[in-house]
Amino acid sequence: MPSPAPHDRLPLAFGGDYNPEQWPQEVWEEDVRLMREAGVTAVSLGVFSWARLEPRPGEYDWEWLDKVIGLLHTAGISVNLGTPTVVPPAWFYRAHPDALPVTREGVRLAFGSRGAICHSNPDYRAAATTITRVLAERYGNHPAVVLWHVHNEYGAPVLACYCDVCAAAFRDWLRERHDTLDALNQAWGTAFWGQQYGDWEEITPPRATPSVCNPTQQLDYHRFADAQARANFVAERDILHRLSPGVPVTTNFMVAPSQGQTVDYWAWAKEVDLVTNDHYLMTDGRRTHVNLALAADLTRSVAGGGPWLLLEHATSGVNWQPYNPAKRPGEMARNSLGHVARGSEGAMFFQWRQSQSGAEKFHTAMLANSGTENRGWREVTDLGRRIAGLADLRGTRTRGDVAMVWSWDSWWAQSLEWRPSQDLDARERLDAFYEALYDRHLTVDFLPPTGLGDLDPSRYPLLVVPQLYSAPVGVGADLERYVSRGGTLLVSFFSGIVDENDTLHAGAYPGALRDVLGLTVEEFDPLLPGETVSVRGADGSSYTADLWSEVVLPGAGCETVAVFADGRTAGGAALTRHAVGSGAAWYLATRLTGADLAAVVDLALADAGITPVDLPRDVELVVREGESGTFRFAVNHTGGEVKVVLPDGGWAAVPAGGVEVFRDPR
Ligand code: GAL
Repeated sequence: MPSPAPHDRLPLAFGGDYNPEQWPQEVWEEDVRLMREAGVTAVSLGVFSWARLEPRPGEYDWEWLDKVIGLLHTAGISVNLGTPTVVPPAWFYRAHPDALPVTREGVRLAFGSRGAICHSNPDYRAAATTITRVLAERYGNHPAVVLWHVHNEYGAPVLACYCDVCAAAFRDWLRERHDTLDALNQAWGTAFWGQQYGDWEEITPPRATPSVCNPTQQLDYHRFADAQARANFVAERDILHRLSPGVPVTTNFMVAPSQGQTVDYWAWAKEVDLVTNDHYLMTDGRRTHVNLALAADLTRSVAGGGPWLLLEHATSGVNWQPYNPAKRPGEMARNSLGHVARGSEGAMFFQWRQSQSGAEKFHTAMLANSGTENRGWREVTDLGRRIAGLADLRGTRTRGDVAMVWSWDSWWAQSLEWRPSQDLDARERLDAFYEALYDRHLTVDFLPPTGLGDLDPSRYPLLVVPQLYSAPVGVGADLERYVSRGGTLLVSFFSGIVDENDTLHAGAYPGALRDVLGLTVEEFDPLLPGETVSVRGADGSSYTADLWSEVVLPGAGCETVAVFADGRTAGGAALTRHAVGSGAAWYLATRLTGADLAAVVDLALADAGITPVDLPRDVELVVREGESGTFRFAVNHTGGEVKVVLPDGGWAAVPAGGVEVFRDPR
């Protein structure tokens, strides 16, 4: 893939989605004036504008967009230009009703919302590439266009369609993946329940079935749906590369929504020129700033540690959750700069001006419906000034302290039906281990489950594997190599169980990870809702666990660090340590949360020789470093002032709810 350097033309971004088509022309001029007042440097334009750009098939209206881009350019505001392919116009669906996606239950969804896309539909594909081409022909070399924003949040709200066109495309995809029908039958385990296929044409998408549908069929379908959407992205991207050389192409990711499993961003990140992400705080009672930090760390990780950009977040409340409280004073800046601390090259919002109608009119924006005489506007303009003051941190990088494995593919597999407990939840474990590390003020780099054998223990002394249910055989050998060279590995239960076809590894659990962990698991014994067991450490410590217990049989050289003190597996190992070469592999055979999990993470950190920074809870200290210097972000989520120690040994105060950026003297 030709990869234009994302940095060349992109400013440190501050701005938002701009939807001028919702407003008369007089408002555009006011918009641009106010954008300048707020310090806006970039906007995402035209993301949902297809119907306005092509009001009738083949008839284009460029006048308004020419004007808007011209106004922005004159004001020195850069454009992240959208290809509007997430919402084809009503006329398109009238002509091609088959392009509307079909659910598993066979319901064809209707126009009247957004994202109603069947990614296999040839008419959709042709129309999407045509509108992309004509847009690129017109604006591909416009000096204001510094980035292309393809589509919007692929996979949301619908990733998979189950229509007949998709069924045929799925069969082609399966032929590529499995080569022969025998291999497919083997991979899907179709001998079970007599599901053997004798002809490719017999295979359908995993549509609604009377009982549980074949898990590998479901898993392959998720992969297929992801690949179809990605192919459509690539088709648009290639047109843009050809007609708009040197302008990077992105599509806005949603790497860590608190629900849903989205697409495989390890694969997507390889296709974009610049990784961008959307992040919204969930009002679900959890510590939202921890989820924000996780999302930012994960986005940086899929970007390979390199620069990335927060393309959307909210100035205050959103409107699509059951309850949408406003952000507290200072919270928006804390959110925005929290992302910047973890590598974002600026902070962008959905959206610039609050909509007066439509589904998102209650969503807050940089410029409220009420105008500029309000707290929101004052905070927006303050933030604009702060971001402008950070312009020279462009290109600096945030470095993770510890590593954690994240696999969308394993998560999809683990989330299928009929597991030993319906409460098994890979994402919950990822969040829990992340939170324990966050509470030790450590920055996490996430890694895919491939190539771990080359991981350098001196770079990442600790590697955490929260719940890697699906792990090809090679993962075990890779982890062993990492540990034997001095790494400390911490693995949580229900990891290494199946291969990429959701087939159990031969022999005892935990299949692929038996050797590195130095143990076998004789039997799973999940706990019932509300049931807990006690875990007692050899050092006298005691913890309360839930969800999961199992019968662990430690092998030679595997030390039992804590046991189940009661319950059906009482007396058996609950936490083990296996010395391998100059490192050690820890295994936690049950679910601990909060302080109990933190205590186990502390044991692994100590084993890895990591001394956590001494800071109050809910205070972040994150460092960006590069040619232009070292920037230390202190983010204070507490209600009181805190003091942080600087490298010269001095102290600096960070006000309640505030963010300070300290620059090391050069
Ligand atoms: C995003 C989406 C935006 C807007 C926003 C509202 O997921 O990309 O278009 O809907 O949510 O929070």
